[in-house]
Amino acid sequence: MISVTEGGPDVRYTRSMGPKNTNDRVAWLQGPSGQCEDASGNGLPAPGQSPWRLVLLGAPGVGKGTQADLLNQRLGACHLSTGDVFRAAGSRSDCEPSPALQEALAYMRRGALVPDSTVWEMVRERIACLRCDGGFILDGFPRTLGQAESLNQLLDTEGITLSAVLSYELTASEIAARLGGRRTCEKCKAVYHITERPPKVEGRCDRCDGDLFQREDDRPDSIKVRLETYERSTAPLIEFYKKLGLLVQIAATGTPDEIFERTVGEMESRRIQVHAHKLWNAGENRREG
Ligand code: AP5
Repeated sequence: MISVTEGGPDVRYTRSMGPKNTNDRVAWLQGPSGQCEDASGNGLPAPGQSPWRLVLLGAPGVGKGTQADLLNQRLGACHLSTGDVFRAAGSRSDCEPSPALQEALAYMRRGALVPDSTVWEMVRERIACLRCDGGFILDGFPRTLGQAESLNQLLDTEGITLSAVLSYELTASEIAARLGGRRTCEKCKAVYHITERPPKVEGRCDRCDGDLFQREDDRPDSIKVRLETYERSTAPLIEFYKKLGLLVQIAATGTPDEIFERTVGEMESRRIQVHAHKLWNAGENRREG
């Protein structure tokens, strides 16, 4: 049985204490042939501490990727997005996309879900990322009840415990505004917004100077399909994880930093991590340092 891990005097969860946080995600983006820059993918937790293992839920455009990035920077676990894997595979020039990948990209362009069997095959190939001692932040997976059940079984078999499932919530009109202005770095996948989170130089990534692009599925017709699909297929996961006692619901209003602070507060109030404020402070210190 998976359950929220309670904090306490012998608190088990803390920020990754590795010397650096590369989050290059090579093993996740490329699959079994890829090797992350450091052995754990993003640095190891302090001795005696367990890594963070989180699932992010929420409608397309609610800000899961943005929060996953902040959680990665401040808690250390690796940001694993299934959408990023498909997009990375689709943009590789060194090999012909397989028929399954071509089919997956066609689903994505329309805003529909990629079939469970294709997604599951891709996740299973990357099991090493779920086993990674650095922990993980799953973004965009699971997305159907079938995927959630498969993930549960896999984690049970592997003896891996989820820390929590964070569910972000926002109105449809605010979501549409976020998606319409999104720009993504083609190299490091950093996410910007043309008015809310603009890059310092228009069209260039602040972190790696890569080109920023607008995703194909951020067109109005695809956005509509994605939001309908979310309501039909993914929203039922809220109840699924609530029953498992893992769900933490978070209002996704305000700035990304405000939402992050709210996330930490909610986790703390659920005693998922009693040292959450210490983590927050440590993250702030690291950012300033
Ligand atoms: P995926 O890549 O997972 O996309 P998504 O779930 O649709 O989510 P998004 O990446 O669009 O949004 P987000 O919530 O991460 O928001 P973000 O942080 O970018 O999936 C794409 C497709 O792949 C799917 O449609 C499907 O076809 C396929 N797929 C993937 N996984 C699958 C699976 N498991 N099963 C089946 N199919 C699968 O933020 C959005 C914008 O808002 C940005 O511009 C950001 O800068 C801005 N923003 C963020 N926070 C704030 C804030 N607080 N205030 C103002 N602006 C903000």
